[in-house]
Amino acid sequence: MVSRRALYDECIALLSSAGKESADFDALCIFQDILGDKNPLFLPLEPVPEELAGRIKKLTAERADGYPLQYLLGKWEFYGLDFYVGEGVLIPRPDTETLVDQVIDLCRENKLAAPVIIDLCSGSGCIAIALEKHIPSAEVHAVEISEKALGYLRKNKELNSSGIHIHEGDVLSSVTAEALPQADIIVSNPPYLTAQDMSELEKEVTCEPALALFGGNDGLGFYRAITAVWRKHLRAGGFIAYEFGMGQHNDVRDILLSGGFNDVTFRKDGAGIIRTAAAKKAAIMTQRHVDRSAITHS
Ligand SMILES: C[S@@+](CC[C@H](N)C(=O)[O-])C[C@H]1O[C@@H](n2cnc3c(N)ncnc32)[C@H](O)[C@@H]1O
Repeated sequence: MVSRRALYDECIALLSSAGKESADFDALCIFQDILGDKNPLFLPLEPVPEELAGRIKKLTAERADGYPLQYLLGKWEFYGLDFYVGEGVLIPRPDTETLVDQVIDLCRENKLAAPVIIDLCSGSGCIAIALEKHIPSAEVHAVEISEKALGYLRKNKELNSSGIHIHEGDVLSSVTAEALPQADIIVSNPPYLTAQDMSELEKEVTCEPALALFGGNDGLGFYRAITAVWRKHLRAGGFIAYEFGMGQHNDVRDILLSGGFNDVTFRKDGAGIIRTAAAKKAAIMTQRHVDRSAITHS
């Protein structure tokens, strides 16, 4: 039987030769997953039973071939919580934690004691469930269209003993909006890649569903539609909060300002990229020019 250390070195060599910069981390995660041991290299000479070694080698080969580590492990952490992931659902990204932070701060700063929050394009449910856990008085709804993603959403609700309300529906349709209660906050990380982005995806990302990625030719289709459809389902003085891609912040701000929102506030993610925006529902919906002075950064 091969020792843990020797097998680990073999896996690192395979991952490194495939150009995986995260070879050490990937190998460690695979070892932890298969051996069920948080510190698999603490006992480097411990022999690895053949069946387990075979499974480790298989996962390592798939990873070296460009399959997402998160799908191989079947679970991934977001905002300190575990979420089931696999083909058919977007892998929760650390950038999206910025959106959760911004919504939690909105509730605190505006003293929203028991807010109704609707998470559109909910996918795994990472945003909805993280918000529910951190704002226990909130009533949180999650809307998703994909059957496969809904399967993960339901399992993640159970995994986290969550009380969120799940709705199958198309966020682009006012029929979906009319079936939900009036909200204090609409939050969404919708698909936002452009047609050009879709033609240049890294191999790993091609494993994720196109439905979760493609936001129309210019990537902004969901922001236009959600802003227009859901504004009237927000209470007076309610908020909308979006995540978007690098460089899309000016366009999203313009969509919000011309769509009946003001007080746009941006947030940067951990890499310093402007990643999210929140805006307040304006009292009156007026067709006006975009007011660039209404922007603040936090
Ligand atoms: C970018 S992913 C975000 C998933 C999750 N909120 C997150 O942050 O990880 C977008 C999600 O929108 C869903 N979606 C795409 N079109 C939709 C539509 N018309 N109505 C509802 N959900 C939609 C996709 O299936 C996908 O789960």
